[in-house]
Amino acid sequence: MTRAVSSPKPKIEATDYRQVLGHYPTGVCVITARQDDGTQAGMAVSSFTSVSLDPPLVAFFPDKNSSSWPKIEKAGRFCVNILAADQEWICRRFASKAEDKFEGVPHHVSAHHVPVLDGVIATIECEIQSVIEAGDHYIVLGHVLALNADRARPPLLFFQSGYGQFQTGSIG
Ligand SMILES: Cc1cc2nc3c(=O)[nH]c(=O)nc-3n(C[C@H](O)[C@H](O)[C@H](O)COP(=O)(O)O)c2cc1C
Repeated sequence: MTRAVSSPKPKIEATDYRQVLGHYPTGVCVITARQDDGTQAGMAVSSFTSVSLDPPLVAFFPDKNSSSWPKIEKAGRFCVNILAADQEWICRRFASKAEDKFEGVPHHVSAHHVPVLDGVIATIECEIQSVIEAGDHYIVLGHVLALNADRARPPLLFFQSGYGQFQTGSIG
């Protein structure tokens, strides 16, 4: 179901959009995939979210200009690797245009045939369920095939264009 909206909209400047939305802190994931011929692809994303428990669905939002996304889509499956606080260098690598982003990054291929990065705090292996156009991005819905988490490691956080770590506050 989509809602048709046709009323005139105020213009939002790209710099304002980026600056204001940067106030929302997120974790950082690397989305990885492997095609049948062994070609691997990966991209760093902060746009990851849980969507549905039954059925188990998650989502991330790749830019239409991403060169990694078509390879991930072709693979049909992906792994969400949630990065640990000491993995900023892996985020930077997978946000780059490096020819082989996996070079020197310890990883293995799972039973579901997706690359899983070593040392991450959680992995969510998915099959692509649907891809929805959303402006200059896509919304990718993944059906969860397998999950794993390592509670002993703190996450890498992203806020206002910078990286940081989680500090336990007074809540909880
Ligand atoms: C912290 C961080 C978060 C990012 N989040 C996203 C995202 O949600 N969606 C996206 O398409 N690109 C995101 N990027 C940019 C991609 O990682 C990067 O453009 C891309 O992987 C490199 O280009 P390629 O897809 O052509 O390989 C993010 C980059 C960083 C550093």
